[in-house]
Amino acid sequence: MKSDSIADIESRVKSRPLPRHVGIIMDGNGRWAEAKGLPRIEGHREGSTSVQEVTRSARRVGLEALTLYAFSSQNWARPADEVAGLMDLLREYLLKEREEILDNGIRLSAIGELDKLPRYVREPLDALRAESEKNRAMTLTLALSYGGREELVAMARRVAEKAAKGELEPAAVSEALVDATLWTAGLPPLDLVIRTSGERRLSNFLLWQSAYAELYFTELLWPDFRAKELCDCLTQFQNRERRFGQTSAQVQALPIRRAVS
Ligand code: IPE
Ligand code: IPE
Ligand code: MG
Repeated sequence: MKSDSIADIESRVKSRPLPRHVGIIMDGNGRWAEAKGLPRIEGHREGSTSVQEVTRSARRVGLEALTLYAFSSQNWARPADEVAGLMDLLREYLLKEREEILDNGIRLSAIGELDKLPRYVREPLDALRAESEKNRAMTLTLALSYGGREELVAMARRVAEKAAKGELEPAAVSEALVDATLWTAGLPPLDLVIRTSGERRLSNFLLWQSAYAELYFTELLWPDFRAKELCDCLTQFQNRERRFGQTSAQVQALPIRRAVS
C-alpha cells in the first residue's frame, strides 16, 4: 500500500479543529549526536533542520502560534564551547531563514532575557522581529534565554512597580492582567506542549501558560522530529477531550466541542 504523502497527512489534520498555540521543548540534540559518535553541536545543527521543517508544516496546516524552546535560562550553565556553538547556530538560523519567514507572512517574536544574548545574535533577531512585525499568518516565538520562573518574577516586578507608583490597585490584579504582563502577552492560549527525547518534565517552560495545555511526550530525539511527527501530535491532540474541570457529559453537550476558555 502506498503511504500517504505529507500533503495528504497535513490536509487531514487541517480538516479538524487545531490547537491555536503549540509549544515545543526541543530536547535530545546532544544524545542524537552522541549516539552517532558526533560532537554535540552536530545534534544542534541537525535540530535546526527540524526547526525549519516543523515551522513550515505548522504554517501549512494553519497554526496561529508556535513557540519553540531553543535555549533556557539554565542552559547558560553548559560548557562555554557548547553555548558559543549554539549562539553561532542561532545567528546562522536567523540569517538563513529571514527570507522564508518574510515570504510566508510569519511574524517572528522572541521571549526570554534577551539582553543576555550576545550582540551578534541580538542584532539579526531584533532586525527580523521588526521586519516581520506586521505579518499575521503565524507567530513563531523563539524562547531564548527563557525561563518560566524568570518570566513570572519579571511579571511580579512590573505589577509591583505599577502598584508602588499608585497606577494599580491590588484588587485590579487579575488573571487577565497577569496574562497581559507576561512576555507571551498577546499570544493565544497555549493548547499543546510537545517534548521530545523521552523526558517527562517542563524544565521551566511556559509555567503559567501550560496550566491547561495538553502534554505530549515522545521518545523521539528532536533531530528525528519532522513534519510527519508534528502531524502525529496534532492528530492525537484532536482525539483528546479537554474538560477544563467539567464532566465529560457536560463537554459532550456543548454545541461545538471546543475549549471553554
Ligand atoms: C536540546 O537538546 C537543545 C538545548 C537544550 C539547547 P540537548 O542539548 O538538551 O540534548 P540532550 O538532552 O543532551 O540529548
Ligand atoms: C530544556 O532542555 C531546554 C530546551 C529544550 C531549550 P534541557 O535539556 O536543558 O532540560 P533538562 O536540563 O534536561 O531539564
Ligand atoms: Mg536536554
